[in-house]
Amino acid sequence: MSIEPNTPLIDRFGRVHTSLRISVTDRCNIRCFYCMPLENARFKPRDELLTFEEMTRVVRVAAGHGISKLRLTGGEPLVRSNLSQLIQMLKAVPGIQEIALTTNGILLPDQAADLKSAGLDRLNISLDALSEELFERITRRQGVQKVLDGIAAAKSVGFENVRLNAVAIQNLTECEIVPLANFARENDLHLRFIEFMPLDADRAWDKSQVLSGRQLREMIAQEVAPLHDLDREDKSQPAVDYEYADGRQRVGFINSVTEPFCGTCNRLRITAEGQLRNCLFGSEEWDARQVLRTGGTDADLSARLHSCVQAKKPSHGMDSPEFVPPERAMYQIGG
Ligand code: 5AD
Ligand code: SF4
Repeated sequence: MSIEPNTPLIDRFGRVHTSLRISVTDRCNIRCFYCMPLENARFKPRDELLTFEEMTRVVRVAAGHGISKLRLTGGEPLVRSNLSQLIQMLKAVPGIQEIALTTNGILLPDQAADLKSAGLDRLNISLDALSEELFERITRRQGVQKVLDGIAAAKSVGFENVRLNAVAIQNLTECEIVPLANFARENDLHLRFIEFMPLDADRAWDKSQVLSGRQLREMIAQEVAPLHDLDREDKSQPAVDYEYADGRQRVGFINSVTEPFCGTCNRLRITAEGQLRNCLFGSEEWDARQVLRTGGTDADLSARLHSCVQAKKPSHGMDSPEFVPPERAMYQIGG
């Protein structure tokens, strides 16, 4: 298949792909149960991970096909050495308009300033619980204070519109919902709750553990402040955002399980070891690393990108009786 350099990445259902999520490492400094196993995580050997030059090449080719937004994920992206250098390299790629990063925040006190000066545009910080006890049950590590310091560091170096991501879990995090909402409002953070998805390494996910966006919204509207609908500015955004009636911040819900948003998905992913994926829940991968490491041309990379997009299914099919969770867990794919 020969692909012209600027053919947009449009799939069989008309979805135009403009966003690429790049996992920069599968390693992490904590062990959230909904993502990683407690022990014996299967990390890729370092020489299998794409180098910064390789990632930048993929991005340059992808940008030629209309990718304009990047998000760096992991594992925990900040455990990859010299991440700021990668951000500088990606920022210089023509067509790349925005680079965001999803982090657990623990290393931000050390790195926030460098990330900002490298040109990182946006930060999402994950925090599911403000109570240390619950934080430890979820992450199997200590660290609320470190995350709070990370949030403060991000703000102090000038990051604006910092987002907080919280995975909500039935029979576990209910007591954290209102405190998190209040904390976010007090600190001018845009909080987004994420439904627990079947991407845990232990394969223990069960639908009964999903605390739905709808339940969360009702809880917040009753106990924090009434909520107003907002017009969806960007329809490809997975979150449904609301504004608090008093105008003090927004709160959003990423209802991946109960209200899938596959119909407007504009995202592609690449794993830390260079496998292209068209869906978090997909089972197929397209090997970009092989092209990169066997003298392939940019046209070969273009062809892989287009094959990946062309094979994209209409939806993740989580509701179907045939649904099986992907073989890889979240840390091995990239959030
Ligand atoms: N379900 C929902 N969200 C998850 N994340 C990681 N694993 C899961 C899961 N199984 C979230 C993290 C982080 C982002 C990268 O994805 O908490 O906010
Ligand atoms: Fe680490 Fe993020 Fe996975 Fe938690 S969800 S274990 S912070 S990679």
